[in-house]
Amino acid sequence: MDSHVNYVHRNALVVMRSGFIARGAQGEHPIFVGNGFGGDVAESNYMRKSPRQDLYPNGWKWPKTDYRRFWTWLTKPLAERARRHIPPPRSARWCGGHHLPGMFRTEFAWDFYTRMCVPVAETVTRVWYYHYLKPKTALGRLWQTIVYYAFHRWIIEYNFSRQDERVMLNQRYDTPEKLSGTDAEVIQWRRLVVTKHYGGRDAPFEYRNPNGWAPDEVPLERLSVRYMQEQARASSRS
Ligand SMILES: [Fe+2]
Repeated sequence: MDSHVNYVHRNALVVMRSGFIARGAQGEHPIFVGNGFGGDVAESNYMRKSPRQDLYPNGWKWPKTDYRRFWTWLTKPLAERARRHIPPPRSARWCGGHHLPGMFRTEFAWDFYTRMCVPVAETVTRVWYYHYLKPKTALGRLWQTIVYYAFHRWIIEYNFSRQDERVMLNQRYDTPEKLSGTDAEVIQWRRLVVTKHYGGRDAPFEYRNPNGWAPDEVPLERLSVRYMQEQARASSRS
């Protein structure tokens, strides 16, 4: 999942506080859910501990240093605590991940957000964010609104997302395209768009899910960490 190299977000605040996200060879395989792809939770940082550094066949390591261990012992549990009010998705189809048309959803930092790219003109794309939370009280709602405008919006929509923007703005369209290993998702994504474009909403799409699951058979345990956490909390209460 996520079609770019890991170092793009190395210094984003949300990544600094919780350690590197598993990507590439250590990352999550995409699972097809009908209108897009979710990442396999069985391969996520939540289910397995990924090594602190990637080791390449020629002996190189990335990241070069591991200084963030000096603070992640403290900030990682706090980051996990901040996620506890995120509402889990209700269906596999609307899990975190990429969804047609042009949406990316994630249960990431403080809320369940959807980032949607809307083409406006030939050289203008507008990015909409929908932040989803369910505060239990009016005071809780007010608090979430304040922290959104004071911190969360800047941390997610600017500090984090503008790193992706930096990659996208520098795309060249006047030279031949050269796809690489991190573009596996782009290739799958284009296949889906082309299949649906020519065949309609119900056009058969070729995919290979774990256990041969059909898109609507994928259990939420494999697509949502927040769903698993809520299940664990419910069973510890009963
Ligand atoms: Fe990114």
